[in-house]
Amino acid sequence: MTSSQQQIDVSYSVSNEFFELWLDENMHYTCAAYLDGDETLEQAQEKKVGILADYAEVTPDSLVLDIGCGWGSCLEYLARARGVKECHGITLSTAQLEWVHRRQIPGAKAWLQDYATYEPARKYDALISIEMIDHLCSPAQARAGLAVEIYRQYFDTLAKWVEPGACFGFQAILSDRVPRRRKDVEDLAFTADVIFPGGRNPRLEELVMAVRPSWEILELRMQREDYGKTTGEWLRRMRLHEDRIRSTWGDALYEDYERYLDTCVRGFDAQWCGDVQMKLRRCG
Ligand SMILES: C[S@@+](CC[C@H](N)C(=O)[O-])C[C@H]1O[C@@H](n2cnc3c(N)ncnc32)[C@H](O)[C@@H]1O
Repeated sequence: MTSSQQQIDVSYSVSNEFFELWLDENMHYTCAAYLDGDETLEQAQEKKVGILADYAEVTPDSLVLDIGCGWGSCLEYLARARGVKECHGITLSTAQLEWVHRRQIPGAKAWLQDYATYEPARKYDALISIEMIDHLCSPAQARAGLAVEIYRQYFDTLAKWVEPGACFGFQAILSDRVPRRRKDVEDLAFTADVIFPGGRNPRLEELVMAVRPSWEILELRMQREDYGKTTGEWLRRMRLHEDRIRSTWGDALYEDYERYLDTCVRGFDAQWCGDVQMKLRRCG
């Protein structure tokens, strides 16, 4: 069971123009990689997809699939920066899909498609998925002990779409420590229930168990502090547009997003949450 299309639309289909005001110019909505520390958000986002494309061992001739492709930022990077001739994306958000089509990325195709029912016509050479797994298991399912099984279903399904030896650039937001103050617990619950309904961040150990038996972990990069910086920059940019957001989309939307982004900044700082990139290789 994943977040339903209706729940995904709550998270990502608010309005493309709203997200455009505070994400980077390519509309990455995931943790950027600040490798030097003084990059702009735009540069750090490009480094993030660069690492994942390297992990996936992408070449211009690879047929690449981005699972949970958002507004098409990774597809655009693959086509324009890496010269990939053919890449595909799937998303559950109607507004995102419309935006991907509008970008007219050379060689890219995207569909409104749940990964669980996707049946690729051909095998892929390389896979990328950036913070999509965070939608696959609900808090109630995790409490029922189903998390590893649900994540393993995802990794096993994706493994069928490639040949043994193919690589996968994977990124996920992680849950780590539980906050001690009630206000912090409430803020995290608000973020999960109101901004990302139906979703839940996996724990690192759950992912390490779930990739088996289909995938082998070749590399693992932790980037908790980078997500604090990324969400801090999103919050700073969103605040610059406070008047416009309040007048166009209402006070409640502005206040909900301010509370959520502020919670993220504190959450990554206090280690309630983390972020991981992995290079996975399909087992034979
Ligand atoms: C946090 S966004 C990340 C978007 C993009 N990868 C990026 O880096 O900006 C999560 C994405 O996963 C997609 N998604 C969630 N559940 C999905 C599912 N079951 N099948 C396909 N896509 C899904 C959402 O529609 C959204 O595009």
